[in-house]
Amino acid sequence: MAYTVSRLTDYSAAALEKAADECIAACTAEASEVRSDLDLKSFRDRWMARKNGILTQINDLWLKGAPKEAKREAGIRVNEIKSAVADIIDKAEHIRLEISTAAIQSVDISLPGIRRPIGAEHPVIKTMHEIVGVFQKLGYSVAEGPVVETDYYNFEALNFPPNHPARDTQDTLFIAGQQSKPQRERLLLRTHTSPVQIRTMEKMRPPIRIVIPGTVHRNDPPDASHSPMFHQIEGLAVDTNITFGDLKGTLDHAMKALFGSSVKTHFRPSFFPFTEPSAELYVTCFICGGSGKRGADPCRPCKQTGWIEVLGCGMVDPNVFEFVKDNGYDPKKVSGFAFGMGVDRLALLKYGVDDLQYFFQGDVRFLEQFG
Ligand code: PHE
Repeated sequence: MAYTVSRLTDYSAAALEKAADECIAACTAEASEVRSDLDLKSFRDRWMARKNGILTQINDLWLKGAPKEAKREAGIRVNEIKSAVADIIDKAEHIRLEISTAAIQSVDISLPGIRRPIGAEHPVIKTMHEIVGVFQKLGYSVAEGPVVETDYYNFEALNFPPNHPARDTQDTLFIAGQQSKPQRERLLLRTHTSPVQIRTMEKMRPPIRIVIPGTVHRNDPPDASHSPMFHQIEGLAVDTNITFGDLKGTLDHAMKALFGSSVKTHFRPSFFPFTEPSAELYVTCFICGGSGKRGADPCRPCKQTGWIEVLGCGMVDPNVFEFVKDNGYDPKKVSGFAFGMGVDRLALLKYGVDDLQYFFQGDVRFLEQFG
């Protein structure tokens, strides 16, 4: 039978003590029956609820209902009961907490494991690694340089005339508050990886063969084929007797390694302040195979020309060597070639992605396809 609070008729000390003992014993017994969190809640409510809980009933019936002369004794007993019940409930709560914590810690080895998603290399980084890998096999080493550059390395030492339009804010993102410095010391976000050519030649004497992967910035609003941040890989080879033939042979080999041995290369004259002569390298479109058509449809990536421009290149301009002459780069003794390619566009073509912005939005639904 569940415990109920009865009215007291006898308020003698002995009767009060007996009633209190019975009550505490009942509470202890009920506590030992608690098996779940739900049990615990109803147990606690039954005893502690302000409205009609057992303690409230005891207060009302045994204390408020006590005759004047028994009030003191009844008060002591009721307080005793209250603190005993609070202790019992406390203990019951502790026991429940221990049981549920133990349940969390124990391992059920029959349950299926948690599958952790495996990270994927970003398509741009993957393409970058592939290109760098091709040159590493040719004996090139990898160099890097800062993204925040000085005007000196990004332009001046690369033979850009003082007022070359590339310095213009239309192309270059300048760091604010540099006006008080001389032009060559002003900071900017490098617009190409070519400044690392100079930085490397300052540190290493010839012969050198290096590739330089990295991010570059230009003041271009983002759209399907432009981004204010993109990736380049620079190449530089300097030695005695390096010729344009070496440049052509090296790049032809690299393009075949990257796009397949049937790819043809094609050099067209171009201009860069830091190379002379300069060229743009085209490869036969690896989407349409050079035909300019995909079935009956025009090939979009090569604009039906059958050729895709992949990089700028040329023989290192003697004026560039002049800036590092003291480190063994006497233009009368050494020669070299350099090239620089945009990685992102190659990754777009390679993976058939039609919008450059997908590469930079960090959307897992897009990126996980490359896992
Ligand atoms: N830096 C040039 C660009 O960003 C590319 C280039 C590199 C050209 C090296 C020639 C030699 O367009």
